[in-house]
Amino acid sequence: MEQIKIADTKKWTDKIKNLNNGKVKKYNIMTMGCQLNENDSEKIAGMLNDAGYEKTEKIEEADLIIFNTCCVRENAEDRLFGKLGEVKKYKEERGVIVAIGGCMMQEKHITQKIKESYKFVDILFGTHTLEQFPKDLYEAIKEKKKIEDILDVDGIVFEGVPVYREDKIKASVTIMNGCNNFCTYCIVPYVRGRERSRNPQDIINEVQTLAEQGYKEITLLGQNVNSYLVYQKQKGENVDFKVVVNSKEMVVNSFATLLTALDEIEGIERIRFISPHPKDFTDDVIDAIKNAKHVCKLIHLPLQSGSTKILKEMNRKYTKQDYLDLAKKIKEQIPEITFSTDIIVGFPGETEEDFEDTLDVVKQVKFEQVFMFIYSRRLGTVADKMDNQVPEDIKHKRFDKLKKLVEDEIEVQNKNYVGKEVEILVEGESKNNKNILTGRTESNKIVNFEGSKDLIGKLIKIKIVSDHMWYLYGIYDNI
Ligand code: 5AD
Ligand code: SF4
Repeated sequence: MEQIKIADTKKWTDKIKNLNNGKVKKYNIMTMGCQLNENDSEKIAGMLNDAGYEKTEKIEEADLIIFNTCCVRENAEDRLFGKLGEVKKYKEERGVIVAIGGCMMQEKHITQKIKESYKFVDILFGTHTLEQFPKDLYEAIKEKKKIEDILDVDGIVFEGVPVYREDKIKASVTIMNGCNNFCTYCIVPYVRGRERSRNPQDIINEVQTLAEQGYKEITLLGQNVNSYLVYQKQKGENVDFKVVVNSKEMVVNSFATLLTALDEIEGIERIRFISPHPKDFTDDVIDAIKNAKHVCKLIHLPLQSGSTKILKEMNRKYTKQDYLDLAKKIKEQIPEITFSTDIIVGFPGETEEDFEDTLDVVKQVKFEQVFMFIYSRRLGTVADKMDNQVPEDIKHKRFDKLKKLVEDEIEVQNKNYVGKEVEILVEGESKNNKNILTGRTESNKIVNFEGSKDLIGKLIKIKIVSDHMWYLYGIYDNI
């Protein structure tokens, strides 16, 4: 696949090391948005590690401050500009280097605003030039010049960027990037470019290395994971990749076959993926999930709206009934399956009746988890130009009503877990209480319990004894 390039980051990270005279410098990074952005931040961290930098959570002691931005909803902009105001004083006091990267940098009106009103920012880098960050940083330090490294292109796949992961049990692996769907509310296709998939062998090798390092769970990431390799195929490229996994030769030519191949990797106990698109959820993917030993029986299936009229306006290419039929078909094939979803309330033209359709789907599908969003106007998208925008107070009222329904349903679900034995992957100590361990069920429910630290990283059976809104409590009895 010709678009795959090997990043030449080492040359630049060595140069930065020399420039800093081997002194350990500190960086602070603020990541906004989705797990793809988190994974990009892990790549920035990997490159900075190579350059002799150490991470700090304390922004006031950092030599380098980085923002990895998101532009999916408006509140991220407010957060960035609020934080930049604070950072200005560190620039004035200590001459820190300030860099802003990520999706927001692909929006001209934002970079313009930064250049006009936040002149102290040193580096602006976009989503297509991440692997050049060491070069940008080197030039910003050495030549003390302002760097703008943003490309408006379809996108390329880079291999060879080091990834630094803090979590030692769970890891995210990006399998494809970009989106060709152009849902009318969404800015992603404009800032992340066209769909491009990584070579399957590169993904397999990365997951194999993670397994050797002791990782137990991987989450495959992409804006539209089940179109893995589809665009390449549409463009007439040969996508029948012969791969070797666990000494076995296989062919990977789709998302389903990728799942089947990754399922062979020894040591990986759980495979998750986000996000698929309902319109691309083909039968081979259902079969692959059904037959796989390690693919979690929880599917994140973004609904966005339950109204066929709104779904059409959103350009989602499925109806309410299509969605319900798909969920039913999957459930028939894999009875233990559970679902989670994303829902937007207050899309332009959404009436009470449309909103009721959304509530109806929530009631019918009984999701394990619902990520709820208030529609946010994004400049440059089709929906932003629609003249039937829903007033803010109505959006909020609907959001609250949906939230109430979801919480009520989750409460009932959680109560059903009480008295049952579940399998969890123990992820580590609880954030709030070091004496408590925390893990997750296959359906992604958090389970807290008391136990010895050597259980971390293991799959164990646990009896649920009480339920709470955001977690379950269990007892581990090894006998
Ligand atoms: N407003 C609100 N939510 C949005 N999402 C994407 N764009 C918008 C927007 N303009 C939500 C969708 C998507 C999730 C990642 O973010 O539900 O699935
Ligand atoms: Fe945005 Fe739709 Fe692409 Fe998801 S599928 S990234 S919501 S355009």
